Amino acid sequence: MALHPITEAIRIRTEQTQEMEHSSPLFLTSSFCFDNSEDMRAAFADETDDNIYSRFSNPNVKEFTDRVCVLEGAEAGFATASGMSAVFASFMTFLKKGDHLVSCNSIFGSTHTVITKYLPKYGIDYTYVPANSPEQWERAIRPDTKMIYLETPTNPGLDIIDLEFAGRLSRKHKLILNVDNCFATPVNQKPIQYGADLVLHSATKWMDGQGRVLGGVIVGKQELIREIYLFCRSTGPSLSPFNAWVLSRSLETLDVRMERHASNALYIAQRLENHPKLSWLKYPYLASHPQHSLALRQMKNGGGIFCFELKGGLQSGRKFLDHLNLLSVTANLGDTRSIASHPASTTHAKLTEEERAAVNITPGLIRISAGLEFRDDILNDILQALEKC
Ligand SMILES: Cc1ncc(COP(=O)(O)O)c(C=O)c1O
Repeated sequence: MALHPITEAIRIRTEQTQEMEHSSPLFLTSSFCFDNSEDMRAAFADETDDNIYSRFSNPNVKEFTDRVCVLEGAEAGFATASGMSAVFASFMTFLKKGDHLVSCNSIFGSTHTVITKYLPKYGIDYTYVPANSPEQWERAIRPDTKMIYLETPTNPGLDIIDLEFAGRLSRKHKLILNVDNCFATPVNQKPIQYGADLVLHSATKWMDGQGRVLGGVIVGKQELIREIYLFCRSTGPSLSPFNAWVLSRSLETLDVRMERHASNALYIAQRLENHPKLSWLKYPYLASHPQHSLALRQMKNGGGIFCFELKGGLQSGRKFLDHLNLLSVTANLGDTRSIASHPASTTHAKLTEEERAAVNITPGLIRISAGLEFRDDILNDILQALEKC
């Protein structure tokens, strides 16, 4: 009988050495040896899949990537040094001068910088389409469009994009559908089931889950991943074996962690929803979320993030951060420890108010990454900070 992907991902491991170790050893090596020149020639000629050099492949990196492939239902994958190197490699491998990208407008800040500042330098054009009105997406597709890019749920606004719709649209126009699945994780949502060709992650977030290492991964169709591998093998954004070892161990607990992150987030969001200091609160598994039924359809749970808007705007946002005692004020998410962030005064402070509005960053927006602490302790810290802003 076939094993469940969660079981399979836990049990996949590097080949056991003669030491008969239970946990995978760390292959902290830059290169690999050959018995003779013929074996080395054959490896370089791609006649064998022997490891050559850790910029190309490494047993720890392979273990991590194979586990993500099983969880996402993907044919193949390649792991990168960070989520941003996964995003950049997925663009640079498939887009060239004269090509056009259709991207959802609600995306992670650095991805926005890559699309608007760097892709145009290489002659790659883009059109942003609104996350919450998919009827506008087809109109943005042009004869030179090659790829559709999206995140769902979006960061930080938590809009939900219909993956079935995106899959149908990309198939109809023969485009590569490229999905950043970082916020949901593969134990919650599997974009490949809906027709995504590429799925990528910042493994730095929930996959690590303890805020220790940077990492990224791209999985998808074999022939596309082969192209990504060739691009990365030459340009060098490969994941370090040490980080892969850490991330791979973390994947073994991803499913149980995400269930608790999501139940904590739902519990706290329900209790804050009607708080008088908030103009709104968004969480995909609350009935008040504008795309609640879509979230129920394509996500197994609501995820570990919720966000809200403080009625007092920018100044209240800063005061809220200053009065937190338990929650961490730090530029990350997806940790065992709960984290609060205020994008308008931090990550998006350099943008004008109009630019922030264009990427759905409102002045009083607070994003909470629900950790694994006892849920009432997280809630009580947020409540006491709200009293002071
Ligand atoms: C949705 C999303 N994609 C990509 C990234 C970039 O990942 P990294 O920081 O690992 O480069 C982030 C980082 O926060 C993110 O939230």
